[in-house]
Amino acid sequence: MTVPLPVELQALAAETRTITVLTGAGMSAESGVPTFRDAQTGLWARVDPADLATPHAWESDPALVWAWYQWRAGLVRRAQPNDGHFALARWAAHADVRVVTQNVDDLHERAGSEVASHLHGSLFAPRCSECGTPADSVEPLDDPVERLDPPDCDRCGGLIRPGAVWFGEAMPSEPLERAMECAQTCDLMLVVGTSGVVYPAAGLPGLAREAGATVVEINPEPTGISEQADHVWRTTAAVGLELLAPR
Ligand code: APR
Repeated sequence: MTVPLPVELQALAAETRTITVLTGAGMSAESGVPTFRDAQTGLWARVDPADLATPHAWESDPALVWAWYQWRAGLVRRAQPNDGHFALARWAAHADVRVVTQNVDDLHERAGSEVASHLHGSLFAPRCSECGTPADSVEPLDDPVERLDPPDCDRCGGLIRPGAVWFGEAMPSEPLERAMECAQTCDLMLVVGTSGVVYPAAGLPGLAREAGATVVEINPEPTGISEQADHVWRTTAAVGLELLAPR
């Protein structure tokens, strides 16, 4: 797909020194990582992710939840960062680029970006469900299985839980505070590949705007954020960021 880079965005990208990039599942779509709301396949076709990513699911069937997360971790391990991830990493040589992501994958890091905030946690940061001690990295699953017993914590014997934030669970304060600070202290906020329906992440563009930043949305589809954005660019993350990032 050939998409011309809008002239006003080219100037903004070249001149702005402090940029916060809020990314969502669409950022990783061109890497082949299915979005949370995409149809699930195979073994997991019949389960609704929104039912698995909850404290209730964990309490009632930890082996089911653990198997699902390790399968997702395996999918991500086999995926590669796309041109959009690499463009953001390259941009950091020209400006202060802070990545705030809702994604639990590690594709920004593998492309070379430092991530300022993983708002919804990480597939690769499991921890004890009882004492919170971080666990060693866990081998992701290549093939799906229906149930997999989570390991025990070396320190207290509690079950090791996935490092993602679940629906209905309070977001850890540190990543949220960092994300808010990034939003309130940037000159440009790029909002890439998020539907803008899950709070508090969806409130960050508004915070940035109130603090005087220009907000630019990159998304092939309209979202809950489009109306608040100063510029909307209907293109994909890989195509848009590759054109936008200075070289
Ligand atoms: N490039 C850019 N955007 C894209 C692309 C692409 N190639 N493909 C899809 N999109 C857009 C879609 O148009 C949609 O707006 O990505 C967005 C994906 O939306 P969601 O699946 O709702 O993902 P996200 O906004 O990250 O969800 C927020 O909710 O699912 C939970 O905790 C999970 O972190 C997630 C949160």
